[in-house]
Amino acid sequence: MRTQVGIVGAGPAGLMLSHLLAQRGIESVVVEIRSRAHCEARQRAGLLEDGTVKLLREADLAQRLDTEGLEHGGIYLQFDGERQHLDFRDLTGGRTVTIYAQTEIVKDLIARRLADGGALEFDVTGTAVAGLDTDRPVLSYTTAGGERRELICDAIAGCDGFHGICRPAIPAQLLTVRDRDYPYAWLGIIAEVPPSTDELIYNHHPDGFALHSMRTPQISRLYLQVSPDERIEQWPDDRIWAALQHRFALPGWELKEGPITDKAITPMRSFVSSPMRYGRLFLAGDAAHIVPPTGAKGLNLALADVTVLAQALDRLMRGDSQPADSYSDACLGRVWRATHFSWWMTSMLHSAPGGDPMDMDLQLAQLRYVTMSRAAATSLAENYTGYPPLR
Ligand code: FAD
Ligand code: PHB
Repeated sequence: MRTQVGIVGAGPAGLMLSHLLAQRGIESVVVEIRSRAHCEARQRAGLLEDGTVKLLREADLAQRLDTEGLEHGGIYLQFDGERQHLDFRDLTGGRTVTIYAQTEIVKDLIARRLADGGALEFDVTGTAVAGLDTDRPVLSYTTAGGERRELICDAIAGCDGFHGICRPAIPAQLLTVRDRDYPYAWLGIIAEVPPSTDELIYNHHPDGFALHSMRTPQISRLYLQVSPDERIEQWPDDRIWAALQHRFALPGWELKEGPITDKAITPMRSFVSSPMRYGRLFLAGDAAHIVPPTGAKGLNLALADVTVLAQALDRLMRGDSQPADSYSDACLGRVWRATHFSWWMTSMLHSAPGGDPMDMDLQLAQLRYVTMSRAAATSLAENYTGYPPLR
């Protein structure tokens, strides 16, 4: 069988790429090991940069985002018994961020691809890629019905996340990997209770970081820093609420509680593998890079990568290999800026195990500086709301 672009993974990167290619008249097949229901329900990101919202509008994917998304003009930083607001609109000349869950983006993309006649194969097994250093790479897999298929492609996009098969298909000696594990993890919950805040609260606390985010005016999303070796069974709901109440406590403010409908622990890591291309294999999103979630960058980077990749593949199909040759460098500039910002936010807000008092006072000095100095606040706001779209 034949297609122009074989896409591994139906996360935001793979689905968006297949949509952007279709808009340019390029055919693709997306193969995904999980079920459609699983992809649509997996609780992950929630915050879109200004530029990501614009990309989704330009791609004609923002009908629901524009009615249901919650636009935020800033965040709160809480530390040392105070809660300070950073006003992004004022600091960045009008830039904002939008709460719209990754689950909703994935639902919108799947519905759109199916309505446009796109080929999506869920529940596949045995995904493999071969012939990557030739002009006819091959993507093979077994369909949900048990049929083995070989797709001969012009290019393959590895959008299969951190644990996928595409990055390991590149000869290891050609890759440069930069990697950092952090000595903490995030316990994330979804709770059926209206958010207790109008904008996100990033909370520094001696017991560990906490974040109050949201999904809708009725649904809250909250995170707690926990130790990476803890299991979710050790965190019954009442223990989670007690820790959240303790860390967010502020006179005159109340954290509302409600039934918890989802909870999971995620380890934190910074990881960049370069280059993001080997022959006719192009990596995008978490397959090539991971950031800790404190900067809310992972989904935004994945969508930025595939925007560049769709243009590069379009030109490659028409015989111009220059944009494909510069794909990796074009993405890595943004990736490293986001990697630094996410590391910086993470280091400023989390307490190291063992609670070194010197580290704590350095963090508090930094937090006071970003809330007192307009220059420092502007730097945070500029990074958080995102960077201009890549050409
Ligand atoms: P994924 O979403 O991981 O998709 C990869 C897909 O490939 C998956 O569906 C997987 O099943 C499939 N796959 C894997 N192996 C194979 C195979 N062999 N064959 C076929 N398919 C395969 N980012 C933000 O921007 N803002 C946030 O607020 C934010 N918060 C986060 C909070 C948490 C708790 C977590 C965990 C992440 C958060 N992120 C955030 C990061 C964001 O969710 C990821 O960066 C994003 O999912 C990356 O998209 P992707 O398409 O590259 O990869
Ligand atoms: C989320 O809403 O899931 C979220 C928001 C901001 C972050 C991380 C996660 O920094």
